[in-house]
Amino acid sequence: MKKNKIVIANWKMNKTVSESQKFISELINDRTLKNYKNVIICPSFLSIMSIFTECLKNNIKLGAQNCFYEDIGSFTGEVSPIMLKKSGIEYVIVGHSERRIKLNETPDIINKKLFVALKNKLKVILCVGETKTEKDCGTEKSAILNQINSAVCGLKEIDLLNNLMIAYEPVWAIGNTNANVDPMYAENMCAFIKDSININFRKKINVLYGGSLNSKNAENFLKMEHIDGGLIGGASLDVKEFSEIIKISQNFYIS
Ligand code: 13P
Repeated sequence: MKKNKIVIANWKMNKTVSESQKFISELINDRTLKNYKNVIICPSFLSIMSIFTECLKNNIKLGAQNCFYEDIGSFTGEVSPIMLKKSGIEYVIVGHSERRIKLNETPDIINKKLFVALKNKLKVILCVGETKTEKDCGTEKSAILNQINSAVCGLKEIDLLNNLMIAYEPVWAIGNTNANVDPMYAENMCAFIKDSININFRKKINVLYGGSLNSKNAENFLKMEHIDGGLIGGASLDVKEFSEIIKISQNFYIS
């Protein structure tokens, strides 16, 4: 069956509980949208359960923006993959560059989080992306490979990878509408990521693009063969903007 390109909202540290609820009720009242089958929303931990029932009723999937790497225990402030899974949350983002850079999340931590999230049967959106310096030095591909290899290190049960997708998010393009990312550049990087997973694991996984995606440029990225969808930050906070992107995504299918 043909699958529409995937659209994921990463709300980051935005929206109170009532703002999250308002967004969802406006989104589902938009009758111009055909369906929400390809839509995943990642709100804050605080908001996530407050929109759970409305999202479920409308086939909108929910994801967390983070999780810890232990199942249970004395880890003040953390939320475990088991808690997410048992609450009915399907997805979790792991390894976002904001957590790597601003919260000192190391490759080792990301590897542990990925393993425990997959073990608990969550679907993981693993984020990778080069910095501006790495790009300027021409080392973007080796930077990405290092991130992927350290994240999946030790994952022997190949089947776990059924629940993995990768979001290619060049750090220099995040929250930077002036970055003017060439969709062909993103396409080549996504193809490179797919190939390397295919070579190492004999697995075909979905690869998304993220970084200043909006309703004006979404078509240019989503029409690309190796870009299976978008991970959207800023533009996902505005319901009109986000529903435009969903509409655009419904014109394109994962190949
Ligand atoms: P922006 O869409 O705001 O650039 O953020 C992208 C992102 O980091 C999504 O995870």
